Amino acid sequence: MTALLATPVARADAASVAAAVQILSAGGLVAFPTETVYGLGADASNGRAVARLYQAKGRPAFNPLIAHVLDLQAARALARFTADAERLAAAFWPGPLTLVLPRAAACPVAELATAGLDTIALRVPNHKVAREILSAFGKPVVAPSANCSGHVSPTTAAHVLADLGGRIDLIVDGGATPVGVESTIVACVGEPVLLRPGGLPRAAIEQALERRLAETPAGLGADSTPAAPGMLAAHYAPRTRLRLDVRRVEPGEALLAFGPAPAVNAKSAKAALNLSTRGDLIEAAANLFSHLRALDAAGAAAIAVMPIPGDGLGEAINDRLTRAAAGR
Ligand code: TXA
Ligand code: MG
Repeated sequence: MTALLATPVARADAASVAAAVQILSAGGLVAFPTETVYGLGADASNGRAVARLYQAKGRPAFNPLIAHVLDLQAARALARFTADAERLAAAFWPGPLTLVLPRAAACPVAELATAGLDTIALRVPNHKVAREILSAFGKPVVAPSANCSGHVSPTTAAHVLADLGGRIDLIVDGGATPVGVESTIVACVGEPVLLRPGGLPRAAIEQALERRLAETPAGLGADSTPAAPGMLAAHYAPRTRLRLDVRRVEPGEALLAFGPAPAVNAKSAKAALNLSTRGDLIEAAANLFSHLRALDAAGAAAIAVMPIPGDGLGEAINDRLTRAAAGR
């Protein structure tokens, strides 16, 4: 996709929904209204589209995204539902509730979208325009709030344009969003935990579960900032030690290369993968978690990672690699 000078804003109708679906299919980015806030949508199963999405938002780190689907049946293909999750989905979907669940083995959502985690956040929105797009697209759509990183979530098409104009392919204007705050996020991995207060009140959830929601773990940002859930998610890190900014591989090491000129002695690596032989940071982001997983399974003494530039998505890639290296 080429960079756009201006992003068109189209009133929601059959033509703009069709255009949105075409753009999603081509790996592009479309902002659309949900009942909570406007989301910035990308094809969840297309790693490059997901990488472009992080780039458009200007995020300095990869926070896991919410996959939006049309109904419970579509959601069941992506995750394992606990009895509590079934109960909450039956009570509140479609609606402003996001469930964090264990990722299904055959889940087609790109690893970058879930930031390499074994869990996935799912939501069935209750907005005519969002539902028309999901229905016509027929596949999961990841959609963070359609604002620049650090800005507040947008509730009108004009907010989206002000933040992301020129950086995304289309804004579908469906008027002001009725709820106006993000969805409530509940993790149903073990005992249900409230990760983010939002459009669905805690009391309604506790009534459906017939018990109190577990408190968020102490010291892990149990506040209501939207950044908190990402902090609560145990970040993915390989078991194998990481060595960063490496130009020469040590014996027994695996190599995570970047760019057209691999490490001087790349051939001696126990296993080697290149994030992007072209040196393209979007391609590198799309490959990051799957390549780390593959090299982690190679039984190497360490994973040697070549230097990766810090501009654009390089900042988020380096953030993740630095955390993974420090976590050992
Ligand atoms: O109302 C909403 O939820 C809006 C509309 C567009 O659907 N979306 C939204 O997405 O607020 P976003 O990306 O701005 O916030 C999603 C939050 C992030 O804080 C992220 O850390 C958390 O969900 N999250 C996503 N996957 C997670 C996971 N597997 N575990 C824990 N937290 C997760
Ligand atoms: Mg957000």
